[in-house]
Amino acid sequence: MLEVHDLTKRFGAATAVDAATFTVDRPMMIGVIGASGAGKSTLLRMLNRLTDATEGRVLFEGRDVLRLTGRERRDWQSDCAMIFQQFNLVPRMDVVSNVLHGTLGRRSTVATMFNLYPRADIHRAIDILDRLGIAEHAPKRAEALSGGQQQRVAIARALMQDPRMILADEPIASLDPMNAQTVMEALRRIHEEDGRTVIANLHTLDTARRYCDRVIGMRLGRIVFDGVPEQLTTSVAREIYGAGADFSEAATSTEIRDPYAEAAMRDAAAVV
Ligand SMILES: Nc1ncnc2c1ncn2[C@@H]1O[C@H](COP(=O)(O)OP(=O)(O)OP(=O)(O)O)[C@@H](O)[C@H]1O
Ligand SMILES: [Mg+2]
Repeated sequence: MLEVHDLTKRFGAATAVDAATFTVDRPMMIGVIGASGAGKSTLLRMLNRLTDATEGRVLFEGRDVLRLTGRERRDWQSDCAMIFQQFNLVPRMDVVSNVLHGTLGRRSTVATMFNLYPRADIHRAIDILDRLGIAEHAPKRAEALSGGQQQRVAIARALMQDPRMILADEPIASLDPMNAQTVMEALRRIHEEDGRTVIANLHTLDTARRYCDRVIGMRLGRIVFDGVPEQLTTSVAREIYGAGADFSEAATSTEIRDPYAEAAMRDAAAVV
């Protein structure tokens, strides 16, 4: 399905993602973990073509993703919908319109200008919201919803594009534990029931272990672990996070600072 070969992103002298290579041969739920600055977001952004790769290849069912331009590139971005930590909804717009925004790519400019949506799309949006347990909020402004509900609206907007993959960049980092659980369960169900691949950057090990079939660990831009959750022992986790003996499983990646990464960043800054 998805083949990633030597995918690399350099920002000046600093290498954010260093020859990342992995294959996804069937629909999976994959968690990407690693300390802050390990390259997790950059990896997802390259896959979705939000950021151009410096080197490497990405093949999806034989299609050379990094070479797509124009319409084909936009279609690819619909095929691998992104979800972000901050939801990226239009706060003052109602929930159902936010979800319908997921169809923008295939609507005419005039229809978009006048906020005209085909009736079938509106029904579909409500069905998707219903599936995520938030249909009753459809007429409310997005900003009136809790964080967990807003993230489910963002998932609904992604599903409106009928994506093959969902790429989620720290989807639960801003949520309390209850809301985090609802959102992770929604992503898991979408994977299991629809057969969509989900790749989620996660900031706790615990979440990766609980919800994912496979975990990719990144450190200093490199993939240093790729396996099933059972293989993710505390000592492996310590290596991924570059943490010392005081490493605590409960800590989140944003709290863990990789000493080597910090030194490398200082060196890179010195070169620039
Ligand atoms: N636009 C940019 N310009 C310069 N450097 C960048 C840019 N984006 C990311 N980087 C650098 O690339 C490295 C990887 O960043 P990235 O955001 O992918 O890490 P991350 O694993 O997602 O971290 P976090 O857990 O904090 O979100 C970091 O050193 C970061 O400073
Ligand atoms: Mg990130």
